[in-house]
Amino acid sequence: MSTLGAQTGPGEHSRHGAAAAAAAQAGTRLDQWFSSYADRAHGMRASEVRSLFAVANRPEVVSLAGGMPNIDGLPLEHIAEMTAKLLRERGTRALQYGGGQGEEELREQIVEVMRYDHVAAHPDDIVVTTGSQQALDLVTEIFINPGDVIVAEAPSYVGALGVFRAYQADVVHVTMDDDGLVPADLDRTLTELERAGRTVKFLYTVPNFHNPAGVSLSLERRPQIVEICRRHHVLILEDNPYGLLGFDGDPMPALKSYDPDGVVYLGSFSKTFAPGYRVGWAAAPHAVREKLVLASESAILSPTMMGQLSISSYLSTFDWYGQVKEYRQMYRERRDAMLSALAEFLPGARWTVPDGGFYTWVTLPEGLDAQAMLPRAVTNLVAYVSGTAFYADGQGRGHMRLSFCYPTPARIREGVRRLSTVVRAEAELVDMFGTTPHARRGDSVEIPSPDQV
Ligand SMILES: Cc1ncc(COP(=O)(O)O)c(C=O)c1O
Repeated sequence: MSTLGAQTGPGEHSRHGAAAAAAAQAGTRLDQWFSSYADRAHGMRASEVRSLFAVANRPEVVSLAGGMPNIDGLPLEHIAEMTAKLLRERGTRALQYGGGQGEEELREQIVEVMRYDHVAAHPDDIVVTTGSQQALDLVTEIFINPGDVIVAEAPSYVGALGVFRAYQADVVHVTMDDDGLVPADLDRTLTELERAGRTVKFLYTVPNFHNPAGVSLSLERRPQIVEICRRHHVLILEDNPYGLLGFDGDPMPALKSYDPDGVVYLGSFSKTFAPGYRVGWAAAPHAVREKLVLASESAILSPTMMGQLSISSYLSTFDWYGQVKEYRQMYRERRDAMLSALAEFLPGARWTVPDGGFYTWVTLPEGLDAQAMLPRAVTNLVAYVSGTAFYADGQGRGHMRLSFCYPTPARIREGVRRLSTVVRAEAELVDMFGTTPHARRGDSVEIPSPDQV
């Protein structure tokens, strides 16, 4: 559902900033720099979930919350040898600063990786970044003025929403269904925004194995989305960290393959190899790529040389695609465990059926509030992320994101069983007293911890 009614105008930002500052002041007497912060910093605070996570990360808790890839299957012996060789033979390069755009050798390999998504890019089009998270930040930095609109799926990746809010963008959500973003709703939303005189800078979308929704944009809809954005002169920011992790068949063509000049594509080695290297990339139209490099140089000077050269060696000395196929098999087993546990223990709920990636999106029985229920779930030794984290405007209480990437199939089953006891108890309370009271939500930006994204 579009949330046009929930937008804020540019003038309201300063009022929000002042209100957030006043509200926060009472609780921060210890910070002598309080009055010096920029408005956007006043709005940043750890999400409620983040505080709970200190507890949720204890081993006795089954966490269906985090998006941490399971990297137990990595060939650590090979990586150790590869790293030793890299340091021995190219150590002074690997431990030196590098160019702002990233190593050419790696950019050439990235072009090959993107061929799996049907994208024909050139190494000059690529900017290597500190994970795709930094690419999200850079794109937002170069395009967004306070009050500009970013159109994004409902729900959207929590880490992107944090960036968008930090740059004081207004996020307007567009409906998704089991086939991903709904073209008619996108078209209508962009038309209404134009009529209202709003400046829409880009569409942010995760077309494959969506985080958090678990759905993918159908093949049929891909050219439609591209055509709608082209007609409204809206850039597409295509975020694709999970594209190679499909359980059935080959990846679908990226949006970038339909309109190379209309799309900035973000990729990552975090899910297909290992997140610890913190290497991702943006593939952008030429002029945009230049701005991204300048913005990146000003933020970090150059991306990690050690990380880039390590990934480069891995891609050239190991059957990396074979490893991706093993990951697919392992995640598919976990997805199956999640779906059968949901069918066994949570028959009153609905959930999406992911064909890849890490997540399923659960819709709770009517009247249940995932955010209010979370502390009780953690007390019952199971954790999830409440749907509210994935909307810019406080929607999502009736939903939760469950991830199946990290726990073993047996732990997933046990986690869902524990969850079902909490849901049942909650449903009884709702039957007796009506809907559980909603916690107040302020104007602040909820920043999740890295293991929650
Ligand atoms: C949709 C999406 N985009 C971007 C990222 C950031 O990934 P990284 O910075 O590790 O490449 C994540 C991480 O979970 C994600 O799920």
